[in-house]
This record gives sequence, C-alpha cells and structure tokens, in this order.
Amino acid sequence: MSAGAHQQSSAPTELGSIPATGTINISSLRDSAIVSLKMKTVSTEGYQTGCIIDARAFFASCRALIDSQLDRLIPKESEEPIRVHSAIRWSLFAGGKRFRPALLLATGQTFGANADRLLRTACALEMIHTYSLIHDDLPSMDNDDLRRGRPTCHVKFDEATAILAGDALQTLAFQTIAEDEDLAPTLRVQLIAEIARAAGTPEGMVAGQAHDLAAESRDVAAAELELIHHRKTGALIRAAARCGALIAGAKEKELDAITEYATNLGLLFQITDDLLDVTATAEDLGKTPGKDARARKATYPAFYGVEATRAHLAVVHRACHDELEKIEQRTQLLRSIADFIIERQA
Ligand code: IPE
Ligand code: IPE
Ligand code: MG
Ligand code: MG
Ligand code: MG
Repeated sequence: MSAGAHQQSSAPTELGSIPATGTINISSLRDSAIVSLKMKTVSTEGYQTGCIIDARAFFASCRALIDSQLDRLIPKESEEPIRVHSAIRWSLFAGGKRFRPALLLATGQTFGANADRLLRTACALEMIHTYSLIHDDLPSMDNDDLRRGRPTCHVKFDEATAILAGDALQTLAFQTIAEDEDLAPTLRVQLIAEIARAAGTPEGMVAGQAHDLAAESRDVAAAELELIHHRKTGALIRAAARCGALIAGAKEKELDAITEYATNLGLLFQITDDLLDVTATAEDLGKTPGKDARARKATYPAFYGVEATRAHLAVVHRACHDELEKIEQRTQLLRSIADFIIERQA
C-alpha cells in the first residue's frame, strides 16, 4: 500500500475514527512506500502540559494522544501480511493502561520537554511492552488465555502469528525512534541503546523473564526475587522515566534521582501486579487471577505473605517519594504516579 493510504485511513473501531493532522511531502513518496514516521504526527491538542498533577487525570489526558500516534505508526490491518498486522492491533489496541508511555511523557514534561519530542519514544515503549505481553502469554511461557480483557494473541490467532506479532512490535519500536526526525541523531542512538538494554539481556526484561521461568521449579532467595522483578518489569519502567528525562535534557544529578525513583516505581509496579494476582478479579484485571500460585511463580505474596507484602509496598512507595525530594522541578505528578501504582486495582 502507499504511504498516502497509510496516512489517510481511519483508526480501528476501538479508537474511533481519528483524523490525521500531519502533512506529507509528496516528493518523498515518489519511489517507495516508505515514509518517515515524522510525518505521521498527531495533534497534541487535549494533552495538557504542566498543569495536571493528578496521575489519573494525566493518564486520561495522554491516552488518546498515545493511541492516535500508535495507530499511525503501526501498519493497517488491510496491509500484508494481514494476519500479523491484525494480531498486533488486536493486542495493542485492547485497552492497556499505557503506563510506560504516560510515565515517559510525565517525566519529560517535568523537565520541560514538549509532547512532540516525547511521543514517538513513548509509543516505542508501549510497542516493546505489548510485545512482552504477547510473548509472556504464550503456552511455552505463562500460558495465559486472557489479556487486556480479550483472548490472548495466540488464542485469537495462533502461536506462530503471536510470535511474529511480538517480533514485529519490537523492531517497529526501534524503527520508530531511529526515524524520529524531531530528535537529534545522537539522542536517537542514546534512546535506542537505553531501551535495548532495558528490554534485553543480561540486565533487562528478557533476562528477567528467563529467570522468572527458571524460578518456577526451584525456591528463590529474597534478593533473587527482587532481582527478577527489577529485570522483568522494572527495567522497562526505569527506561521510560530515563528516556523522558534524556529527551528533556535533564542534568546528570536529576537523571540519577529519576533513575532511583523509577527503579523503585518498577519494583512497586510488579509487587502490586503480584498482589493483584492474589486479590483481584478477572473482570478488574482483564487477565486470569490466581495463575501465579498455580504456576509456582516467585512472587512477593508467595514469599512473604499478603500482609508483609503490603508493608513492603509501603517502604518502596516511600522510597519513590524520597528520591523526588532531590529534584528541584515540580514533582507532584511523579509523586501522584507512585500513589496511583500502590493504589491500583487493575
Ligand atoms: C502487565 O503490565 C505486565 C507486567 C509487567 C506486570 P501492565 O499492568 O502495564 O499491563 P497493561 O499494559 O495495562 O495491559
Ligand atoms: C510479566 O510479569 C512481565 C513481563 C515482562 C510481561 P507477569 O507474567 O506477572 O505479567 P502478567 O501478570 O502476566 O501481566
Ligand atoms: Mg510472566
Ligand atoms: Mg504472565
Ligand atoms: Mg503477573
């Protein structure tokens, strides 16, 4: 299909019809269907910078912006290979919280960057995250059949398609940043390295997932449990916050504080995920609860019990707030995000 068709077609029904606001330089379309991702820009109207300090309101204000940009970055279902593109869209536009892209926007905005410079990297993170969910649910991994309130990708399509959908989301994520002409080339490389390290191995999500699976068949110590959580979930959340700060040009000391804040936030996020697996309903979660215990997963409730896990959460939550004390900028929104995570029910 042509890039022009790509630009003019409507968003999937889940999103409603979203008008494109970017402009296309026709001469760039002459020889190929490849079009710079820079052209697929959405209006940032409705996204309010600087004034929202409540996490829930902020997430609500970001959602349409993130989803519109994702819709422009992802090939249409009508484009070949249709099955893979349908599978990507099935999983991506199923109503996730968009926590990682929103965190990137929040951190970037804290240090003064506008949404135009943050949005594509934010979307890239959501692509990596959704790929991780598709693969996490595979029969050879957590073997889940419900995700974001829908049948999982391999259940709706098939395993091979789900693997390819995840693979494609991962490469699209890096392509998105590489082709982001709003950012200097050196910054793009820095962001790509940051996210690759966080998503891969030995310190990132892939390493954490491998460790998580290996821990199903043996006992782990407390430090090992924490390491699994930092890697499988924390690394990407930390990268989200760091990328926002990097794009905004935060100073080294500010970046250090944000890194510590987000390291704790990532741990907070996975411990609440563990807790919700014990306490929440499938309706609230959009995924099947109780699976961690059945799979003998290394989780905080399994290791410490529910009450001690809640006490642990309070300590980690406090640490998030303490790190923000080191930053001069207004950090109410980042504080509220930590509050949102500890209180979340889904
Ligand atoms: C679920 O992530 C997987 C974990 C890393 C715990 P989210 O809770 O952010 O899932 P979505 O994106 O809202 O579906
Ligand atoms: C997932 O952890 C971490 C990922 C990298 C996807 P979980 O396996 O606990 O996530 P859920 O509970 O299936 O969402
Ligand atoms: Mg898992
Ligand atoms: Mg899982
Ligand atoms: Mg879980």
